[in-house]
Amino acid sequence: MLNYCSFSIEPLSHAVGGVIRGLDLTQEVDSRVLRDIQNAWFRYLVLVFEGQELTPGQQLNFARQLGRVVQYPMAQGLPNYPEIVPVVKLPHERRNFGGVWHSDTTYLPHPPSGTLLLARELPPSGGDTQFANMYLAYDALSDQTKQVINKLIVIQSSAKPRVAKGRSEKVQIGARAGDTELTAEHPVVRVHPITGKRALYVNPAHSVRFTTMTSIESEQLLNTLFEHQINPAFTGSYRWKKGAMVLWDNRCVQHYPLNDYHGYKRVMHRITIA
Ligand code: OGA
Ligand code: MN
Repeated sequence: MLNYCSFSIEPLSHAVGGVIRGLDLTQEVDSRVLRDIQNAWFRYLVLVFEGQELTPGQQLNFARQLGRVVQYPMAQGLPNYPEIVPVVKLPHERRNFGGVWHSDTTYLPHPPSGTLLLARELPPSGGDTQFANMYLAYDALSDQTKQVINKLIVIQSSAKPRVAKGRSEKVQIGARAGDTELTAEHPVVRVHPITGKRALYVNPAHSVRFTTMTSIESEQLLNTLFEHQINPAFTGSYRWKKGAMVLWDNRCVQHYPLNDYHGYKRVMHRITIA
Protein backbone atom coordinates (compact mmCIF):
# COMPACT_ATOMS: atom_id res chain seq x y z
CA MET A 1 0.00 0.00 0.00
CA LEU A 2 1.54 3.30 -1.08
CA ASN A 3 0.27 6.62 0.18
CA TYR A 4 -0.04 9.72 -1.95
CA CYS A 5 -1.31 12.97 -0.42
CA SER A 6 -4.79 12.48 -1.78
CA PHE A 7 -5.29 8.69 -1.74
CA SER A 8 -3.61 5.36 -1.11
CA ILE A 9 -3.04 2.64 -3.68
CA GLU A 10 -3.22 -1.11 -3.40
CA PRO A 11 -1.04 -2.89 -5.97
CA LEU A 12 -2.85 -5.11 -8.45
CA SER A 13 0.13 -7.43 -8.78
CA HIS A 14 3.87 -7.36 -8.30
CA ALA A 15 4.41 -6.15 -11.86
CA VAL A 16 1.72 -3.71 -12.81
CA GLY A 17 -1.36 -1.83 -11.69
CA GLY A 18 -2.74 -0.09 -8.61
CA VAL A 19 -6.25 0.22 -7.22
CA ILE A 20 -7.55 3.53 -5.85
CA ARG A 21 -10.74 3.63 -3.82
CA GLY A 22 -12.73 6.53 -2.46
CA LEU A 23 -11.75 9.27 -4.90
CA ASP A 24 -14.63 11.46 -6.07
CA LEU A 25 -14.28 11.90 -9.82
CA THR A 26 -17.75 13.32 -10.37
CA GLN A 27 -16.27 16.81 -9.92
CA GLU A 28 -13.16 18.24 -11.50
CA VAL A 29 -10.17 17.16 -9.38
CA ASP A 30 -7.88 19.88 -8.07
CA SER A 31 -4.31 20.26 -9.26
CA ARG A 32 -2.80 18.44 -6.26
CA VAL A 33 -4.99 15.37 -6.75
CA LEU A 34 -4.35 15.47 -10.49
CA ARG A 35 -0.60 15.54 -9.89
CA ASP A 36 -0.88 12.57 -7.52
CA ILE A 37 -2.91 10.65 -10.10
CA GLN A 38 -0.33 11.36 -12.78
CA ASN A 39 2.58 10.35 -10.56
CA ALA A 40 0.76 7.19 -9.53
CA TRP A 41 -0.02 6.42 -13.17
CA PHE A 42 3.63 6.65 -14.22
CA ARG A 43 4.63 4.43 -11.35
CA TYR A 44 1.87 1.78 -11.62
CA LEU A 45 1.16 2.11 -15.39
CA VAL A 46 -2.42 0.96 -14.85
CA LEU A 47 -4.72 2.72 -12.39
CA VAL A 48 -8.06 1.30 -11.28
CA PHE A 49 -10.51 3.83 -9.85
CA GLU A 50 -13.22 1.85 -8.10
CA GLY A 51 -16.69 3.20 -7.34
CA GLN A 52 -16.97 5.63 -10.26
CA GLU A 53 -20.55 5.43 -11.51
CA LEU A 54 -19.97 8.55 -13.60
CA THR A 55 -22.26 9.98 -16.24
CA PRO A 56 -20.72 10.01 -19.74
CA GLY A 57 -20.17 13.75 -19.33
CA GLN A 58 -18.30 13.22 -16.05
CA GLN A 59 -16.15 10.45 -17.54
CA LEU A 60 -15.31 12.74 -20.44
CA ASN A 61 -14.46 15.65 -18.12
CA PHE A 62 -12.09 13.44 -16.15
CA ALA A 63 -10.44 12.23 -19.37
CA ARG A 64 -10.00 15.84 -20.48
CA GLN A 65 -8.15 16.60 -17.25
CA LEU A 66 -5.66 13.87 -18.19
CA GLY A 67 -5.03 15.07 -21.72
CA ARG A 68 -6.51 15.73 -25.13
CA VAL A 69 -9.29 13.27 -25.92
CA VAL A 70 -9.12 11.63 -29.36
CA GLN A 71 -11.64 9.55 -31.28
CA TYR A 72 -11.17 5.90 -32.13
CA PRO A 73 -10.88 5.51 -35.91
CA MET A 74 -12.61 2.15 -36.20
CA ALA A 75 -15.93 2.59 -34.40
CA GLN A 76 -18.66 5.07 -33.73
CA GLY A 77 -19.13 6.62 -30.33
CA LEU A 78 -22.28 7.26 -28.28
CA PRO A 79 -24.84 9.46 -30.09
CA ASN A 80 -24.22 12.50 -27.88
CA TYR A 81 -20.63 11.67 -26.99
CA PRO A 82 -18.70 10.68 -30.13
CA GLU A 83 -15.50 10.45 -28.02
CA ILE A 84 -16.97 7.61 -25.93
CA VAL A 85 -17.01 4.24 -27.67
CA PRO A 86 -19.21 1.53 -26.16
CA VAL A 87 -17.29 -1.75 -26.02
CA VAL A 88 -20.03 -4.35 -25.92
CA LYS A 89 -20.25 -8.14 -25.99
CA LEU A 90 -23.80 -9.47 -26.21
CA PRO A 91 -24.94 -12.86 -24.84
CA HIS A 92 -25.09 -14.51 -28.28
CA GLU A 93 -21.72 -13.17 -29.45
CA ARG A 94 -18.58 -15.29 -29.37
CA ARG A 95 -15.85 -12.77 -30.12
CA ASN A 96 -14.85 -9.96 -27.81
CA PHE A 97 -13.37 -6.59 -28.71
CA GLY A 98 -9.58 -6.55 -28.60
CA GLY A 99 -9.46 -10.23 -27.63
CA VAL A 100 -5.73 -10.70 -28.07
CA TRP A 101 -2.73 -9.16 -26.28
CA HIS A 102 -2.23 -5.63 -27.60
CA SER A 103 -1.52 -1.99 -27.04
CA ASP A 104 -4.22 0.25 -28.50
CA THR A 105 -4.20 1.30 -32.17
CA THR A 106 -0.43 1.03 -32.64
CA TYR A 107 -1.15 1.23 -36.40
CA LEU A 108 -1.73 5.00 -36.07
CA PRO A 109 1.15 7.45 -36.55
CA HIS A 110 0.38 8.82 -33.07
CA PRO A 111 -1.23 6.07 -30.98
CA PRO A 112 -3.09 7.15 -27.83
CA SER A 113 -1.04 7.53 -24.66
CA GLY A 114 -3.86 6.38 -22.44
CA THR A 115 -7.16 4.53 -22.56
CA LEU A 116 -9.86 5.07 -19.94
CA LEU A 117 -12.36 2.21 -19.69
CA LEU A 118 -15.40 2.34 -17.39
CA ALA A 119 -17.37 -0.82 -16.54
CA ARG A 120 -21.11 -0.26 -17.07
CA GLU A 121 -22.45 -3.81 -17.20
CA LEU A 122 -20.60 -6.98 -16.30
CA PRO A 123 -21.11 -10.72 -16.54
CA PRO A 124 -21.68 -12.45 -13.17
CA SER A 125 -18.09 -13.68 -13.34
CA GLY A 126 -15.26 -13.63 -15.86
CA GLY A 127 -14.36 -10.89 -18.32
CA ASP A 128 -11.23 -9.90 -16.43
CA THR A 129 -8.62 -7.80 -18.21
CA GLN A 130 -4.96 -8.72 -17.96
CA PHE A 131 -2.12 -6.22 -18.24
CA ALA A 132 1.58 -6.69 -18.99
CA ASN A 133 4.41 -4.30 -18.10
CA MET A 134 6.57 -3.65 -21.18
CA TYR A 135 9.39 -1.99 -19.20
CA LEU A 136 9.90 -5.26 -17.35
CA ALA A 137 9.61 -7.21 -20.60
CA TYR A 138 12.34 -5.10 -22.17
CA ASP A 139 14.61 -5.15 -19.12
CA ALA A 140 14.46 -8.93 -18.88
CA LEU A 141 15.84 -9.47 -22.39
CA SER A 142 19.49 -10.39 -22.89
CA ASP A 143 21.91 -7.62 -23.89
CA GLN A 144 22.37 -9.41 -27.20
CA THR A 145 18.68 -9.24 -28.05
CA LYS A 146 18.39 -5.68 -26.77
CA GLN A 147 21.19 -4.66 -29.13
CA VAL A 148 19.38 -6.19 -32.08
CA ILE A 149 15.94 -4.79 -31.35
CA ASN A 150 17.08 -1.32 -30.24
CA LYS A 151 17.68 -0.47 -33.89
CA LEU A 152 14.59 -2.08 -35.40
CA ILE A 153 11.47 -0.42 -36.74
CA VAL A 154 8.26 -2.43 -36.85
CA ILE A 155 5.31 -2.10 -39.21
CA GLN A 156 2.03 -2.05 -37.29
CA SER A 157 -1.19 -2.83 -39.14
CA SER A 158 -4.90 -2.63 -38.43
CA ALA A 159 -5.55 -5.58 -40.71
CA LYS A 160 -3.92 -8.63 -39.13
CA PRO A 161 -6.65 -11.16 -39.94
CA ARG A 162 -7.65 -12.35 -36.48
CA VAL A 163 -8.01 -8.88 -35.04
CA ALA A 164 -9.59 -7.18 -38.04
CA LYS A 165 -12.22 -9.91 -38.35
CA GLY A 166 -13.06 -9.79 -34.67
CA ARG A 167 -13.35 -6.03 -34.76
CA SER A 168 -15.51 -5.83 -37.88
CA GLU A 169 -17.95 -8.27 -36.28
CA LYS A 170 -17.95 -6.30 -33.07
CA VAL A 171 -18.22 -2.65 -33.99
CA GLN A 172 -20.26 -0.49 -36.28
CA ILE A 173 -17.62 0.78 -38.63
CA GLY A 174 -17.63 4.54 -38.68
CA ALA A 175 -17.28 6.65 -41.78
CA ARG A 176 -13.70 7.57 -40.93
CA ALA A 177 -11.74 4.42 -41.59
CA GLY A 178 -14.02 1.53 -42.45
CA ASP A 179 -12.27 -1.60 -43.64
CA THR A 180 -9.23 0.09 -45.15
CA GLU A 181 -5.91 -0.98 -43.73
CA LEU A 182 -4.07 1.55 -41.59
CA THR A 183 -0.34 1.07 -41.05
CA ALA A 184 2.37 2.93 -39.20
CA GLU A 185 6.06 2.37 -38.50
CA HIS A 186 7.30 2.63 -34.92
CA PRO A 187 10.52 1.76 -33.06
CA VAL A 188 10.43 -1.69 -31.49
CA VAL A 189 11.86 -0.19 -28.33
CA ARG A 190 10.28 3.08 -27.37
CA VAL A 191 11.44 5.56 -24.81
CA HIS A 192 8.59 6.73 -22.63
CA PRO A 193 8.40 10.53 -22.97
CA ILE A 194 7.76 11.10 -19.26
CA THR A 195 9.64 8.37 -17.42
CA GLY A 196 12.50 8.12 -19.94
CA LYS A 197 12.42 4.32 -19.56
CA ARG A 198 12.60 1.87 -22.44
CA ALA A 199 9.60 -0.29 -23.25
CA LEU A 200 9.07 -3.11 -25.71
CA TYR A 201 6.58 -1.93 -28.32
CA VAL A 202 5.60 -4.92 -30.45
CA ASN A 203 2.29 -6.71 -29.97
CA PRO A 204 0.67 -9.78 -31.53
CA ALA A 205 -2.48 -7.90 -32.55
CA HIS A 206 -0.86 -5.36 -34.86
CA SER A 207 2.88 -5.93 -35.37
CA VAL A 208 3.54 -7.44 -38.78
CA ARG A 209 7.18 -7.17 -39.84
CA PHE A 210 10.44 -5.32 -39.19
CA THR A 211 11.26 -2.83 -41.95
CA THR A 212 14.78 -4.20 -42.44
CA MET A 213 13.98 -7.93 -42.29
CA THR A 214 12.04 -10.35 -44.46
CA SER A 215 8.66 -11.56 -43.30
CA ILE A 216 10.03 -14.96 -42.30
CA GLU A 217 12.94 -13.48 -40.36
CA SER A 218 10.56 -11.04 -38.70
CA GLU A 219 8.07 -13.74 -37.82
CA GLN A 220 10.60 -15.75 -35.85
CA LEU A 221 11.82 -12.84 -33.78
CA LEU A 222 8.34 -11.38 -33.35
CA ASN A 223 6.96 -14.69 -32.08
CA THR A 224 9.82 -14.94 -29.60
CA LEU A 225 9.06 -11.44 -28.33
CA PHE A 226 5.29 -12.08 -28.21
CA GLU A 227 5.86 -15.14 -26.07
CA HIS A 228 8.40 -13.40 -23.86
CA GLN A 229 6.40 -10.22 -23.22
CA ILE A 230 3.45 -11.92 -21.51
CA ASN A 231 5.49 -13.91 -19.02
CA PRO A 232 3.37 -13.99 -15.83
CA ALA A 233 6.19 -12.18 -14.02
CA PHE A 234 5.31 -9.06 -16.02
CA THR A 235 1.51 -9.24 -15.72
CA GLY A 236 -1.42 -8.41 -13.47
CA SER A 237 -5.12 -9.07 -13.84
CA TYR A 238 -8.16 -7.03 -12.84
CA ARG A 239 -11.50 -8.62 -11.96
CA TRP A 240 -13.90 -5.84 -12.86
CA LYS A 241 -16.43 -4.32 -10.52
CA LYS A 242 -19.33 -2.29 -11.85
CA GLY A 243 -18.37 1.38 -11.80
CA ALA A 244 -14.64 0.64 -11.90
CA MET A 245 -12.73 2.83 -14.33
CA VAL A 246 -9.29 1.77 -15.52
CA LEU A 247 -6.64 4.00 -17.03
CA TRP A 248 -3.75 2.27 -18.78
CA ASP A 249 -0.64 3.63 -20.45
CA ASN A 250 -0.42 2.26 -23.99
CA ARG A 251 3.22 3.35 -24.27
CA CYS A 252 4.44 0.80 -21.75
CA VAL A 253 1.56 -1.65 -21.15
CA GLN A 254 -0.31 -4.26 -23.12
CA HIS A 255 -3.72 -5.58 -22.23
CA TYR A 256 -5.79 -8.67 -22.90
CA PRO A 257 -9.51 -8.93 -22.13
CA LEU A 258 -10.46 -12.53 -21.31
CA ASN A 259 -13.27 -13.97 -23.40
CA ASP A 260 -14.62 -16.43 -20.84
CA TYR A 261 -18.24 -15.34 -20.25
CA HIS A 262 -20.28 -16.52 -23.26
CA GLY A 263 -24.01 -16.09 -22.72
CA TYR A 264 -23.65 -12.87 -20.72
CA LYS A 265 -23.50 -9.21 -21.59
CA ARG A 266 -20.53 -6.95 -20.89
CA VAL A 267 -20.59 -3.21 -21.59
CA MET A 268 -17.68 -0.83 -21.14
CA HIS A 269 -17.32 2.85 -22.06
CA ARG A 270 -14.00 3.70 -23.63
CA ILE A 271 -12.17 7.00 -24.11
CA THR A 272 -8.70 7.46 -25.57
CA ILE A 273 -6.23 10.23 -24.79
CA ALA A 274 -3.76 11.64 -27.31
C1 OGA B 1 -10.01 -1.64 -25.30
C2 OGA B 1 -9.88 -3.05 -24.89
C3 OGA B 1 -10.42 -4.30 -22.93
C4 OGA B 1 -11.61 -4.78 -22.18
O1 OGA B 1 -11.03 -1.03 -24.96
O2 OGA B 1 -9.08 -1.12 -25.94
O3 OGA B 1 -8.99 -3.72 -25.32
O4 OGA B 1 -11.41 -5.27 -21.07
N1 OGA B 1 -10.78 -3.46 -23.98
O5 OGA B 1 -12.73 -4.68 -22.70
MN1 MN C 1 -7.54 -2.37 -26.32
